[in-house]
Amino acid sequence: MYQIIHKKALNPTVVEMKVSAPLIAKRAEPGQFVILRVDEGGERIPLTIADYDRDAGSVTIIFQTVGATTMKLAAKAPGDFIVDFVGPLGRPTATDGLSRVAVIGGGVGCAIAYPVAKKLHELGAVVHSVVGFRNRELVILEDEFRRVSDEFYLMSDDGSAGEHGLVTDALRRLLDAGERYDEVIAIGPLPMMKFVCKLTKEYNVKTVVSMNPIMIDGTGMCGCCRLTVGGKMKFACVDGPDFDGHEVDFDEAMSRGSMYREFEARAREHACNLLKTEAD
Ligand SMILES: Cc1cc2nc3c(=O)[nH]c(=O)nc-3n(C[C@H](O)[C@H](O)[C@H](O)COP(=O)(O)OP(=O)(O)OC[C@H]3O[C@@H](n4cnc5c(N)ncnc54)[C@H](O)[C@@H]3O)c2cc1C
Ligand code: FES
Repeated sequence: MYQIIHKKALNPTVVEMKVSAPLIAKRAEPGQFVILRVDEGGERIPLTIADYDRDAGSVTIIFQTVGATTMKLAAKAPGDFIVDFVGPLGRPTATDGLSRVAVIGGGVGCAIAYPVAKKLHELGAVVHSVVGFRNRELVILEDEFRRVSDEFYLMSDDGSAGEHGLVTDALRRLLDAGERYDEVIAIGPLPMMKFVCKLTKEYNVKTVVSMNPIMIDGTGMCGCCRLTVGGKMKFACVDGPDFDGHEVDFDEAMSRGSMYREFEARAREHACNLLKTEAD
């Protein structure tokens, strides 16, 4: 059992939690994730390790409440326990040899992008961060990104936070102004990553994306997380989650990602009713 030692709402649907997991904290690196189960009989879900404290033995996760399991997790309080918390899984984000990097985060993807920006900053790389949200209410980790970025650009779809526009608008401006990057690292919704890759291909800048397909076991056994990358089948849990964005078949990933929509909607409805009953 893994105890929740801290919980904070970052916006109306995104929660930050610190979980006591000393063995995971000891080995975690940016880009890796855990697979957790909230309770016995619950489903497994993958969440990225947003931060870790090796001395305190804690791992931070940041998640959006989108369905049944994240709703159950968000209902937990400090002092409560989670039954399973397995990791670190996946390959760490490759940072060796990078000296100028643009880190692009979209929505809750910023929780995955932030530890990467932080590590690159600690390694002495020049980091330009561009983060985008639908509106001001949904902005997360702004101060954290500013602290680890040499340049920081905040974009919003409706102009209520930072600049009106998409992350690709800011990135195109930087590239047009002659900025050169060893790599662009883009993490967010699939359409955002697809369009960042389309843009960087025009400028011939290597681009790494973090893929988040459905995962079950996280060990390469079930095949659930398969993707096509460079015409070959890859498993995001063991070969990724980071891949060369110019090689990823995003259209296939988007169509596979929507396969369980009806089932998830039923599970969400069920969890909603359960949580309402518990609160009564
Ligand atoms: C490697 C990886 C890292 C991730 N990191 C984060 C993170 O740091 N923060 C965050 O908010 N989300 C993250 N996700 C997505 C997160 O796993 C899903 O939001 C979560 O599983 C939703 O479960 P649910 O029951 O609440 O919602 P559901 O209603 O079951 O599903 C909502 C959506 O979540 C996705 N999803 C559902 N089940 C899974 C599953 N078993 N594996 C992967 N995706 C699933 C699907 O796109 C689905 O349409 C990550 C996913 C992957 C693969
Ligand atoms: S989650 Fe089962 S193979 Fe990747």
